[in-house]
Amino acid sequence: MGSCAEKGSEEIHKLLKRTLKERGLAKLKVRACTSSCLDVCWNGPSVSVQPDGYFYGPVTLEDIPEIVDAFEKGERVERLVLAGNDFIDPKMLARQKKRDQAGV
Ligand code: FES
Repeated sequence: MGSCAEKGSEEIHKLLKRTLKERGLAKLKVRACTSSCLDVCWNGPSVSVQPDGYFYGPVTLEDIPEIVDAFEKGERVERLVLAGNDFIDPKMLARQKKRDQAGV
């Protein structure tokens, strides 16, 4: 179990599944499956939306209705979409910055 589980990913998954079912989107339009670590733990809990090819993070229980609304409309919740440096571990960025400052 990765760090997303420690931040409530299991409850988020359950609520996402339940909300999709209640809205009639489950199985035919949107499937909410679990996975192992998506390698963006620093932005977890994360959700990979496929085949559309984007990630949401960090996702909270409060975000689920808005995410499902967006699925219904065929839209994205832009404020939650990960981009660019969101996929780079901030610890690695900090180490690189130290090296750059030291001229290494
Ligand atoms: S455990 Fe969720 S992205 Fe790593």
